[in-house]
Parts: sequence; structure tokens; C-alpha cells
Amino acid sequence: MSATILVLDGPNLNLLGERDPETYGTDTLASVQAQLAAKFGGVRFEFFQSNWEGALIDRLHQAHRAGVDGIVFNPGALTHTSVALRDAVEAITPPVVEVHLSNIYGREDFRHHSVLAPVCSGQISGFGAFGYLLAVSFLVHGSS
Ligand code: DQA
Repeated sequence: MSATILVLDGPNLNLLGERDPETYGTDTLASVQAQLAAKFGGVRFEFFQSNWEGALIDRLHQAHRAGVDGIVFNPGALTHTSVALRDAVEAITPPVVEVHLSNIYGREDFRHHSVLAPVCSGQISGFGAFGYLLAVSFLVHGSS
């Protein structure tokens, strides 16, 4: 049976491609999603982006209830502040890989801390859109 992976993106990632391309690259979110679908033909992807914290929490719960095999999560700026998202990740069963396009450790001090990282399987930061591919690769081939 093929794996089901949720790719979840938080605030402002809908602007990918037009928002600060020097930092985040020129790929749009749609093109990142297309790259994933092309690279992992055997995987069933669910894609969801929201600028709302509660919508992201609801989607994590839904993925848990549905029994997805893994979650790739770029929480955007909520990475650095959201105890509610951390609690949601901690409460659910599917493995979660935290992804950042930029290297958050090479940027402003307030981006150096991730509230979520301790409850994720791991974190990928600084490899641009390729980080999403790395995360799926781990979830499909390396997490069991
Ligand atoms: C980001 C890094 C965050 O600090 C920032 O707020 C984002 C994007 C990244 O993908 O590099 O919105 O998560």
C-alpha cells in the first residue's frame, strides 16, 4: 500500500516565489508540491497551507485521525512562538519533520529557536525547496 504524506505549510508560505526570493528562492508552493508529486510517484500527497494557527492544528488532528504515515511541516514564523502547535505535534502519532527553506540559524536571533523541534522527528533547515524532498524521503524510506 502506498504511503500517505501530509505536507503542511504555515503563515506566508502561500507567497512563496514572490516573498523575499533571495531568502526563500523563486519556487512557488505549487511548484514545490509538483516537484514532490513528480519525484515520489508512489506516494499519496495531501497539501495544506494556512495563515491561521488553529487551522493548522485542526489539520494535524485530522491527519492523526486519518492515520497518515508522516507529516512534512513548515510552520513559518509560528515555529518560533507557537506552544499550541507544539502541543498538537506532541499529541499526535504520525512522525513530523520540521522543514525550513532558509537556514534559520544563520538569520536573526529570534529565528534561532524552534518551539516545535523537540517534538518533531527532526528538522531540515537551509536547503530551500529541496528540504521538502529530503523530508519526504526520510518519512518514506527512513522512519520505520
Ligand atoms: C521559514 C523560516 C521562518 O523563520 C519564517 O518566519 C518563515 C519561513 C523558512 O521556511 O525558512 O516564514 O519557516
